[in-house]
Amino acid sequence: MSNTLRGRNLLSMSDLTGAEILAILDQGAELKANRAKAQAAAPLAGKTLGMIFQKPSLRTRVSFEAGMTRLGGHAIYLSPVDFQLGKRESVEDVAIVLSRYVDVIMARVFGHDIVADLAKYATCPVINGLSDFEHPCQILADFLTIRERKGTLKGLNAVYVGDGNNVAHSLMYGAARVGMHMTIAAPAGFDPHAKVLSEAQQMGRETGATIRVSHDPAEAAKNADVLYTDVWASMGQEAEAEARRAKFQGFQLNTKLMGYAKQDVVLLHCLPAHYGEEIEYTASRTPNSAIFDQAENRMHAQNGLLVLIAGE
Ligand code: CP
Ligand code: NVA
Repeated sequence: MSNTLRGRNLLSMSDLTGAEILAILDQGAELKANRAKAQAAAPLAGKTLGMIFQKPSLRTRVSFEAGMTRLGGHAIYLSPVDFQLGKRESVEDVAIVLSRYVDVIMARVFGHDIVADLAKYATCPVINGLSDFEHPCQILADFLTIRERKGTLKGLNAVYVGDGNNVAHSLMYGAARVGMHMTIAAPAGFDPHAKVLSEAQQMGRETGATIRVSHDPAEAAKNADVLYTDVWASMGQEAEAEARRAKFQGFQLNTKLMGYAKQDVVLLHCLPAHYGEEIEYTASRTPNSAIFDQAENRMHAQNGLLVLIAGE
């Protein structure tokens, strides 16, 4: 298949076709399996990634930076205080100036419009490293992890228990694209965005994926191949954390919920985790849990993406 990703942005999982998602996973898996070969080939030699952060990060920052090193390139971390995106300097000017120096921009932002504006004004590809609306790089790593454990994505029953947030949105789009069934089990009032649900359902009709919302975690978890959760209060929602804690009771990924799923269910959490809230520590340490493979795979999946969008 010819590479349709060169020079492209990745703002949303819906930007990618199912074939493109699989191509990224294949490329990432190959780089993971052949580290020495990948480093010798240095597919991003001389290339620089500019990484803009408005929010904290462990995985996103380190996986992109270490990933660029493995690929023979370089990454520059730009912290929230470095140039105060939109305050010290407009998003438009930052995008134009950074594009004169770097080959790819990755940005972790509050409003999704900020990463969309960076992409509008930048003359190099822009990757969404998490916005309030989506987290596509996470889902590429999740899919690589699921595929490692299950051998496939198409036709699996994936269930996400918790907040209908950025991670849930990207999962819904991604699942729809690759033909994986996806149920979001959220407390009433915390459903994913209605537009994401209707668009993902529409995309799912083309691939055979059923995308739905439930308010009953036990019902949703029945026969699940994958059980996924994320924090109840995302970055930027710290003031709501206590009120949310009360409303999310019963929406925990734990050994009881695992009992409704298939024996070999894969447990996922994008991390950071709040043990005792959205995930039980004991469940996170069972052999079913792939949370640390998932964290590692951030780097491999993103390396696949970087090579396809910025390689020669
Ligand atoms: N999963 C994830 O994006 O982790 P960080 O917030 O540490 O980057
Ligand atoms: N939904 C979480 C994901 C963290 C990786 C957040 O936005 O904070």
